This record gives sequence, structure tokens and C-alpha cells, in this order.
Amino acid sequence: MTLLKIAQVGTPILRTVAEEVSAQALASTEVQQFIDDLVETMRDASGAGLAAIQVYRPLRICALEVDRNPRYPYKPDIPLTILVNPVLTPIGEATFENYEGCLSVPDLRGVVRRHARLRVQAWDREGNTIDHEVAGVTAGTYAHEVDHLDGKLFLDRVEDTRSLCTWKSFAKHHEAKFRANVEAVVARYGS
Ligand code: NI
Repeated sequence: MTLLKIAQVGTPILRTVAEEVSAQALASTEVQQFIDDLVETMRDASGAGLAAIQVYRPLRICALEVDRNPRYPYKPDIPLTILVNPVLTPIGEATFENYEGCLSVPDLRGVVRRHARLRVQAWDREGNTIDHEVAGVTAGTYAHEVDHLDGKLFLDRVEDTRSLCTWKSFAKHHEAKFRANVEAVVARYGS
């Protein structure tokens, strides 16, 4: 496996719309190896997710995993999930505020409003149908990753730019309050 280079904000590919993956392409050894590399790169960088477009591969594929993540210690766990050609549909109107960061946006975080419940339709890496619901902080993580496939960064969704902060200032000034918010979201939505 190979660690892939992660594109940083300002790199044009991050602003492009990724292409659908055919069943035939997904089954190829080359794309399967790429998915292995995507997962390895996500884990190496302690990401909660990583989209193919972030590693210079504009395909509609993203990986998610949270396993007591040191970068996001308050995030509920997400088992390793590969989404291919994902479509997210909000369920209901409820939203919550999520303090997000991104491996493509060094040392910056900001508050983004996300839907509290989403229907997820996609393929897994074997081409099997995924159709499930996600909620709360986990729904925020899904939405962040799928945004990448449409050339969007969390920065585009920050409504109050005064929430922008470095990781150090997040820890110093915002983390305690946000952790309490996460606990309330988890208590309400189960994740
Ligand atoms: Ni990101």
C-alpha cells in the first residue's frame, strides 16, 4: 500500500466535481488498490474521513472511520465505511452546529450547520447497495465527505466567520463548549 499526497486548499482539483464510478471500474484491481491506499492515507493522517478527490483522484469515492480518533476525541465511533457514488437525502428539518476541520485545510476549524438525520444511498467497495440512515455528529461527518465530491469545502458553509480558529485556539477557547454540544447531540440522536 502507498500513502497518497493530500491536496491542500487552493489546489484546483478540490473545487471540481468528482465523476461517478462504474461497477466495472469499481471491480478493477487498480481501483480496489486505490481504495486500500485511501484508507491507509486517512488512518495515517488521523482523518475521520477522506474523499478520493482530496488525493488527486476525482472519483465519487470516500472513506470514513472513527475509532477513538485522536484528532477528534469527542466524535462517536464510525466503523470503516467506503461510500461509492453516495447520495445523501436529509430526513426532516433538524440541524445542529458542528465544529469541523479538514485534512485539506491546514490548522483551521469552523462552525458549520449540518442536517441531524440523513438517508445514505451508495455502493460499498464490492458494489453492494448501501441504504441506511445516519444521525447527529456522524451525519455531519458523512455530509462533510460527500461535499468534497461536489467540490465543496467546509469553509463554504461557515456562516459566522468569527468561529474560524486554529486547532490550538480551538482547544483553548472552544473545545469545552463544543464537547458539551456534541454530548447533547449524541444524547438526542444516538451518535
Ligand atoms: Ni475534508
